[in-house]
Amino acid sequence: MAEVEQTPTLTPEAVGDEPQKAADRSGKSSSEQLVVTIGATVPTGFEATAADEVREKLASRAKISKERGKIYFEISIEYLAQVHSLRSVDNLFVVVQEFRDYQFKETKEDTLKDFKELAGKLPWSDPLKVWERNINYKKKKTIRKKPQQHTPSQEKEAKSQGGPIIKKGTEEELSQFTENLVLYSGESQSKIPEESPSANKDEGPNTSEKEKKVDETQKEEAKTKVLKFRVTCNRAGDKHNFTSNEAARDFGGAVQDYFNWKADMTNFDVEVLLNIHQSEIIVGIALTEESLHRRNIIEFGPTTLRSTLAYGMLRLCSPQLGDVIVDPMCGSGAISIEGICEWPNCYHIAGDNNPLAVKRASSNIWSLMTRNSTKERKPTIGLPVDSIQWDICNLPLRTSSVDIIVSDMPFGKRIGSRKKNWDLYPFCLQEMSRVCKPGTGRAVLLTQDRKCFIKALSKMCDVWRKVQTAWVNIGGLHAAVYLLKRTPQVFIQPGEREKGIAL
Ligand SMILES: C[S@@+](CC[C@H](N)C(=O)[O-])C[C@H]1O[C@@H](n2cnc3c(N)ncnc32)[C@H](O)[C@@H]1O
Repeated sequence: MAEVEQTPTLTPEAVGDEPQKAADRSGKSSSEQLVVTIGATVPTGFEATAADEVREKLASRAKISKERGKIYFEISIEYLAQVHSLRSVDNLFVVVQEFRDYQFKETKEDTLKDFKELAGKLPWSDPLKVWERNINYKKKKTIRKKPQQHTPSQEKEAKSQGGPIIKKGTEEELSQFTENLVLYSGESQSKIPEESPSANKDEGPNTSEKEKKVDETQKEEAKTKVLKFRVTCNRAGDKHNFTSNEAARDFGGAVQDYFNWKADMTNFDVEVLLNIHQSEIIVGIALTEESLHRRNIIEFGPTTLRSTLAYGMLRLCSPQLGDVIVDPMCGSGAISIEGICEWPNCYHIAGDNNPLAVKRASSNIWSLMTRNSTKERKPTIGLPVDSIQWDICNLPLRTSSVDIIVSDMPFGKRIGSRKKNWDLYPFCLQEMSRVCKPGTGRAVLLTQDRKCFIKALSKMCDVWRKVQTAWVNIGGLHAAVYLLKRTPQVFIQPGEREKGIAL
């Protein structure tokens, strides 16, 4: 059996003293505080952005995992609501225990025997208190259409762009050595760890009376009913002598024996995560049922961007009060919607040349507006956004009027074509350089057609300077996010520029 680490899950240098500061701010002594480690999955390539958000909003220093797309940070349990408000995280879990260098046994039988023994040795109590408190914040999964099923209008839309309909793959589906399997088995009686009275007392600052009542009722129900659970094993690495299924089965069987929970693959209360990445194992309990990246979008298009990635892209440009932020190829409007939510003191414009896309973006904006007013029980007031049908190559905007451009360009796969991009990309960069303010303007552009983009950019180095590149995985496609700064060079009409370069 590999040794169970008795030390805290994160190194002191990684965590810093922030949880202590959080405890001090709340006016409680650290002994009354339950500080736990939260794990979050984030868009790959945007781990540092997510860590920045955690530092800014939770005053906690996040550790970026060796495994891409994950960060870890410590918080006091009373900040759980704020954790759910983070905009760069997809899924959240509370860490039960981390093994940084797990010693797998030589044979499969011995390794699986170790997994069986592991369940009884883990420090479950605090993570389960977090799980219990989390019931208030957990968004229930909604039933959605399968992503690869496009509506006839979406198919028409993609075809009208000259692109084929491509079956949507996910990052998980395409990562080579990753398996993701779940366990289920028999049933028995529950043993629910008691919530400590102090943890019960501490309600977060944003918890309403209604939420408290729901919380209490659910807690009471949870204490009397048999809990249902499943184990999900995410495994990445090519040197394991067992499969995810075997690990989930044997570890899950032991969890079941230990707690007397009932296994249920689909309708579970507790999801135990067994994340195995090379020689690192992290056991956790899921705090989200549905990825937070779907928030705020009701009408999805053929290439709707994850809200979390949209947030990361916007954040790269550091929006300032009063900035005009434009997504000139907005599709369903994911970027502008994320912009309105997080930077309501900026003015956002979402445009697209496809009327169906503009209609979809408008519906999503409208839905956000009505939801906001219902939530706040206030009359509907407008949002600082407009949606417009336009052509990126000829924008109805004044020269030097835009502070920030953030856009997810056609990859030439589902939308447009690689061939068309050779014309489109140079025109895009040129028109963007016209509307963007010289000296201070910036653009964050996402594309998978990197060759075409870099070629077009190389001809515009008098107006655009590339300052950063982040590599992201979009449905299994290797794409790049470029941060460009507008140089102080005033815009010159294309014919004039060519003459200037020739001279
Ligand atoms: C990758 S999609 C953007 C997806 C969007 N981020 C979302 O969340 O739905 C690219 C968009 O560029 C639009 N587009 C293509 N050529 C355009 C052009 N010449 N002018 C404006 N928009 C264009 C397409 O209609 C498509 O909606």
